[in-house]
Amino acid sequence: MRRFDLIVLSGATGAVGSYLLRRFLEDSSARIVCVLRAPSSYERLVRELVPDARQRIEPLFADLRVADEVDAAVVRCSGGTRCLAIHCAADVSWTKSKAVLAPINIDGTKHFAKLALALSRERPAFALLSTAYADTTSNIYRNSYEETKAEAERMLRRDHADALDLCVFRASLVVGARESGWIGRFNGLYPLIRLVALAEVPCIIGNASSRIDLVPVDWLADELLAAVGRLPAGGRGLEVVAAAGASAPRLGEIMAIVQERSRAFLGREGRSPNPPVSLIGARQYDFLMKASRQWGLREQFYHLDRIRDVMYGYITYATNIRELRPANVTTEAPAAHSFLPNVVDYWLAANSAKVLQARQPAWLGWQSAAQ
Ligand SMILES: NC(=O)c1ccc[n+]([C@@H]2O[C@H](COP(=O)([O-])OP(=O)(O)OC[C@H]3O[C@@H](n4cnc5c(N)ncnc54)[C@H](OP(=O)(O)O)[C@@H]3O)[C@@H](O)[C@H]2O)c1
Repeated sequence: MRRFDLIVLSGATGAVGSYLLRRFLEDSSARIVCVLRAPSSYERLVRELVPDARQRIEPLFADLRVADEVDAAVVRCSGGTRCLAIHCAADVSWTKSKAVLAPINIDGTKHFAKLALALSRERPAFALLSTAYADTTSNIYRNSYEETKAEAERMLRRDHADALDLCVFRASLVVGARESGWIGRFNGLYPLIRLVALAEVPCIIGNASSRIDLVPVDWLADELLAAVGRLPAGGRGLEVVAAAGASAPRLGEIMAIVQERSRAFLGREGRSPNPPVSLIGARQYDFLMKASRQWGLREQFYHLDRIRDVMYGYITYATNIRELRPANVTTEAPAAHSFLPNVVDYWLAANSAKVLQARQPAWLGWQSAAQ
């Protein structure tokens, strides 16, 4: 890190960027510029930081989708000798269309690369956060998120590899830090944690033995900084796949940990546990959906459809045995049983009001009426 006098970070209010920002504030004496899309993003960001840390952050406002805003931001910012640019800004929705995602995930990456080049007198280092799930060899994507992230990778290699020391850093699902469970935003696995912890649905569609690849954000940060420290100059740069691979936890194990931690949390508060959420296979689900239409119970399955849509690609990935293969990491990803209980405890504490709301899941009423 001593090689850089300027760190430019996008997406500093997000799940990954907010952790990286804290790491830079602790470990680096470089100037830290955060490219944020609006003053409201900055207000949210600094609210949680101690005054010393706040003073070190130089906000630079620009909507990264808009080339003119990025050009104007460059003029307002003094550059450095050697810049490390880390690009975390993205729209990580698994359900939005390509028309919505491309302007930020592809054009935004192009604009941020231009900004990094303009702010660095010497050749800058540039790390793009991407997803390990985008299969760039087959060009087959499960959603527009994966497709736009893969296109951004290709665009950087094609148009900027000559001018940037490039790191394409592809991660699996990112969860909170190993010890504290801390994370700035609940993406990726967290909607599933919520459904299971609050028993919002009677069942999840998937196979108990499917692997869901998870990496804690502090391990990701260690590996990202290690990668940046050994970037080759020019060429295709360095591609890292930060994933657990064959040691990723199984869906059944993840659900058991979530249920056990939420039971313990509710128990400490003198509450009875939520009913367990079952796992059912896709074929059982299809049968249930057909039957529910005949029984006039389609409405009850609305949430099941939603979670199936969101988790489907990742569970299918695992059942298709296309395991992620970690690449260019310096240490193995930590075993999930060592950090997942802390991750779930952090989520439960951060959402305690919701978790403690005494209520019976709507589907339970339906279930007992039907029995
Ligand atoms: N989280 C994961 O599980 C995961 C896994 C693999 C890879 N990744 C990659 O890691 C990166 C960060 O993901 P994340 O989970 O941290 O995402 P996130 O929590 O949704 O954060 C996205 C960040 O991008 C900013 N942003 C969005 N649109 C912008 C725009 N038009 N202009 C400027 N900033 C904009 C957001 O700012 P606001 O706060 O103003 O909205 C926010 O800071 C992404 O590239 C993602 O592909 C994430």
